[in-house]
Amino acid sequence: MAHYASACPETITSAVEYACAAPSVHNVQPWSWRLQRGQLSLYVDRRRSIPVEDPDGRQLIISCGGALHHLRIALEHNLLEPIVTILPDRSEPDLLASITFRGRAHPEGSSAALFSSLERRRTDRRPFDAPPVGSMGVLSHGANEFGTSMTILARQYGSMLEHASAIATQEHRNDPDYWNELEEWIRSAGSDEGIPRDALPDALSSHESASARAFPSGHLKIERDARDHAALVLLSTPSDAPIDWLNAGQALSSVLLHATASHLASCPLTHLTEVEASREIVRDVASRSGETFQNPQVMIRIGLLESDTEDADSGYNEPVASGRRAIEDVLTIVH
Ligand SMILES: Cc1cc2nc3c(=O)[nH]c(=O)nc-3n(C[C@H](O)[C@H](O)[C@H](O)COP(=O)(O)O)c2cc1C
Repeated sequence: MAHYASACPETITSAVEYACAAPSVHNVQPWSWRLQRGQLSLYVDRRRSIPVEDPDGRQLIISCGGALHHLRIALEHNLLEPIVTILPDRSEPDLLASITFRGRAHPEGSSAALFSSLERRRTDRRPFDAPPVGSMGVLSHGANEFGTSMTILARQYGSMLEHASAIATQEHRNDPDYWNELEEWIRSAGSDEGIPRDALPDALSSHESASARAFPSGHLKIERDARDHAALVLLSTPSDAPIDWLNAGQALSSVLLHATASHLASCPLTHLTEVEASREIVRDVASRSGETFQNPQVMIRIGLLESDTEDADSGYNEPVASGRRAIEDVLTIVH
């Protein structure tokens, strides 16, 4: 039975705070929320764009899609069902979604596990062990829900992906504007935006997956020569328009939260899909791995943490949680 009494501003504010725990490219948090007369609106905030790396704003919208999915999980935990209209106004393309609320009698079965993952999930750039056989199926269901498909990229094409990553890395290294933009979003611990240096491998930890994005050196110590055995999965969409990006973001959040709930570590990767030549190789690997959608959006490294890197005495540390902007900076409540 529908009831609206619990959709009070405090409940919505709390859900928006959880939504803002979503991952975003370089932790730019490009979202802005507005609550007015019982309707919540989600806007992309283009003042927080990274124009060199993401000229079309694709990754900004993917990030906002992640926040929208996080919001759904937080609301459902509070027995509120969001009624979401995607891109409701053609004349206002930055308005990504409008949301109203309806009460629901019971939480969904997976709701508690996903809700607790909202705060526990974090991007982890350490090497992983391979995920257990059979653990990936549950992750792909969530992606499919949002018109996005998740493919596990077959290990036999690993060298093609390493080549694609090397192409993207080289193109970025040759572009001082890219490096300046990236440096701007690397911060010290305690900042409410950007990537903390403690979450980035230090210069000696050059182990990293050969498919990972190259970052300026950080403080995260990783055992030298550690090998990464993570699974690489890819989210692809049928076309390459803002609605696909928003959907890919919702799918990304779903995959990451399900991974966290299954005690799997994860790291999104997008440098390969930013550069056309490497994106083309990813598209080829995806189609050889059985993918039919032609638009690769986000790769994700997923696996188990190697037990020795979790040992407090080993000299190797864990990535810190990245900061978030204050709720007053991202949510406007119009009375
Ligand atoms: C669209 C998108 C693209 C991202 N691309 C990368 C990437 O290429 N490499 C990487 O290490 N992390 C990537 N991330 C992870 C972000 O850096 C991370 O979400 C952000 O710093 C916040 O940290 P958290 O996920 O631990 O909360 C990406 C995240 C999103 C949503």
